[in-house]
Amino acid sequence: MNVTLSEFLASSNERVDKVLDSLVPAANVEPRRLHQAIRWSMFAGGKRIRPCIVYAAGETFGADAEFLDRTAAGIEMIHTFSLIHDDLPAMDDDDLRRGRETCHKKFDEATAILAGDALHVMAFQTIAEDSSLCSDLRIRLVADIAAASGTPKGMVAGQQLDLEAEGRTIRIGELENIHSRKTGALISVSARAGAMIGAAADDELAVVQTYADRLGLLFQITDDLLDVTQETATLGKTAGKDVHASKATFPGHFGVEATREMAAKVCREAGDALKELDRETSLLEEIAEMILERSR
Ligand code: IPE
Ligand code: IPE
Ligand code: MG
Ligand code: MG
Ligand code: MG
Repeated sequence: MNVTLSEFLASSNERVDKVLDSLVPAANVEPRRLHQAIRWSMFAGGKRIRPCIVYAAGETFGADAEFLDRTAAGIEMIHTFSLIHDDLPAMDDDDLRRGRETCHKKFDEATAILAGDALHVMAFQTIAEDSSLCSDLRIRLVADIAAASGTPKGMVAGQQLDLEAEGRTIRIGELENIHSRKTGALISVSARAGAMIGAAADDELAVVQTYADRLGLLFQITDDLLDVTQETATLGKTAGKDVHASKATFPGHFGVEATREMAAKVCREAGDALKELDRETSLLEEIAEMILERSR
C-alpha cells in the first residue's frame, strides 16, 4: 500500500463525511432546530481521527472500506455526542468547539442535550441496520461500542470520574484510569471494530487491543498537552481551560516536559505491540506517531 497517512486521512474523512451526511436528518426535517443543532456540531471541521482508525484497522485486515463506513460513522456520532455534552455548563462549560460556538451557545441547553441524545442512539441504529455486515458481527460491534461508550469501563464513566477529580490531587493510576475511560475507550474500540470487520483472529484482536489501549491513552495525554501548549485559534477550542477548571491532567501532574516523554513512551509501546502482528502495520504505526506529534 503506497498511500501516505495524510492521503489516507483525507480520503477517510471524505468518505465518512458523505456517510454521515446521508444518515443525519437534513436541517429542514422537523424538528428543524434539533437537526440544525446536530449538523452544527457534526459538520464543523472535526479531525475525524476515530473514523480514520476504523478504516486503517479494517484495511490492515483486508476489509474493503464499504464494510467499514457505517461503523466509522457511528463511532463519530458517539464522539460528537460526547463533545456536545462535555461542553455543557454543567460539565466543562465551554463556549468554543471545532472552531465555532458550542452547541448550547449557538442553540440552547435543552437542544444541545437532545442533540447529544439523538446522536448517541443514532449511532447504534446505524450499525444495527448495516446490511453489508452479517447480523452476528453487527451484534458484536453494538455490544463492544456500547461498552466503550457507557459504564463502568467506557466514556460516560470516565466523564463522571473526570468531573469528580476536579480540584483533587490524584494518583497516577487514577489519572490513567480516567483518561483510558473518558477518551481511550472510544479510540480503542475504533481499532478493534475495524479489525473485527476485517475478520481478525482472536489472537490478532488481542494484539490490536494492546495497541489501541496505548493509542487511546496517548490521545488524551496529547489533548492535555495541547491545552497548555497550543493557541485557541489552532485548537478550535479554548486553550488553557484545564488549569482554570482544576482538571486532573498529565501536565498538571508531571509538568510539560515529563508528560512529553511519557507520551513518546506510550507511543513506542503502541508501535511495539504491532510487531506481534504478521500483517502490514505501517498505517497503524503512523497513526500513533501522528497523534504523538499532532498540533491540534
Ligand atoms: C477531543 O477529541 C476530545 C477528546 C476526547 C480528547 P478530538 O481532538 O478528536 O476532537 P475533534 O473530533 O477533532 O473535534
Ligand atoms: C473530553 O476530554 C473527553 C470526552 C469524552 C469528550 P476533555 O474535556 O479534555 O476534551 P476537550 O479538551 O474539551 O475537547
Ligand atoms: Mg471534559
Ligand atoms: Mg472538555
Ligand atoms: Mg481537553
